[in-house]
Amino acid sequence: MLTQREYAARRRDLMAQMVPNSIAIIAAAAEAVRSRDTHYRYKQATNLAYLCGFPEPEAVLVLMPGREQGEAVLFCRDKDPLRETWDGFRYGPSGAVQQFGMDDAFPIADLDEILPAMLEGKSRVYYAIGKQPEFDRQLLGYVQQLGDRQGRGALPPGEFVDLDHTLHEMRLIKTAAELRIMRKAATISAEAHCQAMLRCRPGLYEYQLQATIEHHFADCGAAAPAYTTIVGGGNNGCTLHYIDNRARLNDGDLVLIDAGCEYADYAADITRTFPVNGRFSREQAAIYDLVLAANNAAIKAVRVGQPFNVANDTTVAVITAGLVDLGILDGEVNELIERGAHRPFYMHSAGHWLGMDVHDVGDYKIQGEWREFEAGMVLTIEPGIYIAQSDTSVAAKWRGIAVRIEDNIIVKKRGVETITRAVPVERREIEKLMRTAQR
Ligand code: GLY
Ligand code: MN
Ligand code: MN
Repeated sequence: MLTQREYAARRRDLMAQMVPNSIAIIAAAAEAVRSRDTHYRYKQATNLAYLCGFPEPEAVLVLMPGREQGEAVLFCRDKDPLRETWDGFRYGPSGAVQQFGMDDAFPIADLDEILPAMLEGKSRVYYAIGKQPEFDRQLLGYVQQLGDRQGRGALPPGEFVDLDHTLHEMRLIKTAAELRIMRKAATISAEAHCQAMLRCRPGLYEYQLQATIEHHFADCGAAAPAYTTIVGGGNNGCTLHYIDNRARLNDGDLVLIDAGCEYADYAADITRTFPVNGRFSREQAAIYDLVLAANNAAIKAVRVGQPFNVANDTTVAVITAGLVDLGILDGEVNELIERGAHRPFYMHSAGHWLGMDVHDVGDYKIQGEWREFEAGMVLTIEPGIYIAQSDTSVAAKWRGIAVRIEDNIIVKKRGVETITRAVPVERREIEKLMRTAQR
């Protein structure tokens, strides 16, 4: 868990990058209706969670560097004994001050009255426009009010600047405390994959492995899966975002599981692929070892100072050469790489930033050039090969084989740390683990 000191440091860092006489406004995520009066499990907007950890909807964080009456102000729901009986505890403004380190806090119902006055005369408003349409309208309404009253001496704010750019650069580089949490999220997730390997046998349904995985997440105190768990048996593994998870797992097929938990606001994102019956066939083994070689080579290639695309380029080179060796692609390797011949079988890229969002924030390019790795960045490495059952361009023995192997790595001053290897990745290790299960 993060300390109040860490959140305060984040706010201080952000405010230090803001121009004088400016204001930053960060709104909580809206609740989403699932069915009539019941909601999806609430997920706080990660920008707000990053800056103060406040978990409730209907909240707005306002930062005003240098303001004498207090720089960090939270608007939030008032205490309400009746609503709290139904929906649970609310911190209320006094809780926001006492437990979230705010300098001041007001009921959200007072936003209309107080926020326009805070905006008045500011040289610059930092705000991520276009992400929360309802709040966008509310905020622009306040600005318009000030504009309408300009003749009577009101002073609308000077300019709007995207907050995300500054904030996301901060979020991209993780602190030691964040890395501790991410290791924990990764370890819980890796253990869950082990549990699925131990339970798996022909005749089970995909959703039963999903249940095993998510049971472990919940059992370890993780709030939820960081994204919808993917369990794809056989050809279902070829559907990259397969979340149906209703099919039976067949003897002789592989099963691809892409699952990670969210722990203390941070995501893990792991994929393992293993044989339903515990033994890889010759063809499955060949594809598996190729994907693993690509994964390992990409992890090795990532280090401080290398450009982001080195990981992807490495996986493409390994996979293309390997597909030629297996007779699935035909031609000269460099020429095949040049024309992207791998794409029918490896149609996504090698990874993404990881953090509070599973596809985390942070630019991949700076002024059109791939950005270089820096210590404290966290990313996934996730090459795959997917040969659809329907792909008649490939010999029948390869069809219906889908393999992705996804690990999470921390870029360190020297080299990288792979934080997801509490679940085996070597073929022999997987088979060994699966053999230990009671059958
Ligand atoms: N689970 C989504 C991804 O791997 O990017
Ligand atoms: Mn994934
Ligand atoms: Mn991923």
